Amino acid sequence: RRTAQEALSRLTVDVADWPQEGVTFKDITPVLADHHAFSAIITALAAAGRDDHGNVVVDKVVGMEARGFILAAPVALALGIGFVPVRKHGKLPRATHAVSYALEYGEATLEVHRDAIEPGERVLMVDDVLATGGTVVATRQLIEACGGVAVGASVLMELGFLDPRSVTGDLPIATLLTI
Ligand code: PRP
Ligand code: MG
Repeated sequence: RRTAQEALSRLTVDVADWPQEGVTFKDITPVLADHHAFSAIITALAAAGRDDHGNVVVDKVVGMEARGFILAAPVALALGIGFVPVRKHGKLPRATHAVSYALEYGEATLEVHRDAIEPGERVLMVDDVLATGGTVVATRQLIEACGGVAVGASVLMELGFLDPRSVTGDLPIATLLTI
């Protein structure tokens, strides 16, 4: 975990005023391009899906389009369980549940296939950044609409100054870095 945190803070590049003025974009692509760093952050993110003995305690990993996909798919493989994509509006071909929400910048609708999560399944959400918390809350609603149990979220970075925890409430969220 220390190695993952160190690699994340060393390799993430802050991009000022992108995608719009006043927003500092956290570019994690250099972390992904470094095998040891990528491997360390995936292991650290996956820890949220295990108990103290290392046993896997979740049934599915959900990743939120787009950057969440890059992290959630290898987390699912590391835990030995299935991956479920939560996609932006209009991308999934079969019957979906949909939730609209406000982003740090802009607005979005997220969708999940209705049959992607079985009733009662325990689901871990994985994403890169926790900013306002809107994405995690919307994804939790999608999991619950399927009848699943959102047991928590695992993210690389939390933008503490946006106070996401006031929005995400009692949901357990593991983060590697708080900015
Ligand atoms: C970004 C980021 C998180 C989300 C966090 O996604 O990847 O998913 O914002 O913001 P929030 O906590 O305020 O909801 P975004 O949809 O901007 O872009 P992406 O498609 O590149 O992941
Ligand atoms: Mg995203």
